[in-house]
Amino acid sequence: MTRISTGVPGLDQMLKGGFFPQTANLIEGAPGTGKTTLGMQFIHHGITACDEPGIILTFEEFPRQYYHDAAGFGWDLPGLEAQNKLRVVMSSPEISLNELQRVGGMLEQHAAAIGAQRILVDSISHFERIVADRAALREAVFGFVNGLKRLGLTILLTRESGSLFGGDPNAAHELAFLVDSYILLRYVEIDSEMRKALLVLKQRGSDHARDIRQYEITAQGAVVQARFKGQHGLMSGSPTPSPADAFGEAFGRTRASRAE
Ligand SMILES: Nc1ncnc2c1ncn2[C@@H]1O[C@H](COP(=O)(O)OP(=O)(O)O)[C@@H](O)[C@H]1O
Ligand SMILES: [Mg+2]
Repeated sequence: MTRISTGVPGLDQMLKGGFFPQTANLIEGAPGTGKTTLGMQFIHHGITACDEPGIILTFEEFPRQYYHDAAGFGWDLPGLEAQNKLRVVMSSPEISLNELQRVGGMLEQHAAAIGAQRILVDSISHFERIVADRAALREAVFGFVNGLKRLGLTILLTRESGSLFGGDPNAAHELAFLVDSYILLRYVEIDSEMRKALLVLKQRGSDHARDIRQYEITAQGAVVQARFKGQHGLMSGSPTPSPADAFGEAFGRTRASRAE
């Protein structure tokens, strides 16, 4: 089966090739972990490397903020819009939801006009604002995601996690069953240095890498690197050396002190 390449070096391998077509894929992380960057990269790569036009749907920033941030990575979004391969759309969750419920709605028109195959929705946290409770949130997101799937789009959803380190404990299972894959981004402090970690929590219908990888935002965009070695409790944000390493360290110290 064909896969939809994310365009993020290292991530496609973790996903055994990429996302499945016409699925909903959720990226969750604290502010600044790189959700928007990763999402723009997914859209930009789709257009420039896979000939798959895309839509960026935003509920928070003006399009010019995306143009500016993307330009920092060398991605020319206005140029792609001029070629009719991209639409950057600013809307509200209420309007987007309503528009998906009627034939020929705003998103359907954009998708048809450029032959869109991908969409970034940044971010679904804004749905939490328009619903009364958890059940209503699931219903809203479910309806929204299905509307986008009906348009034939492969969907990348971002979600802001509340706490800077670790995640809100409920987050992982709150919306997880509504999406086909779930990726977590985390800040991790190691040796007084701030690093970023990425974990593929689930991918429906396929195997995926289960280890926690280092992850960086470079001048070329997001890059997934090697796994974290010798650390324990990474997703809590404050890891400790894993037992084997702690043993090794202690053993090494013992040997060193004997040598003295
Ligand atoms: N051109 C660039 N080169 C390197 N890092 C960048 C560049 N532009 C932004 N960043 C960094 O990438 C991170 C980006 O975050 P962003 O994708 O906006 O996060 P989020 O959407 O999760 O809040 C920030 O920490 C920022 O410092
Ligand atoms: Mg963002």
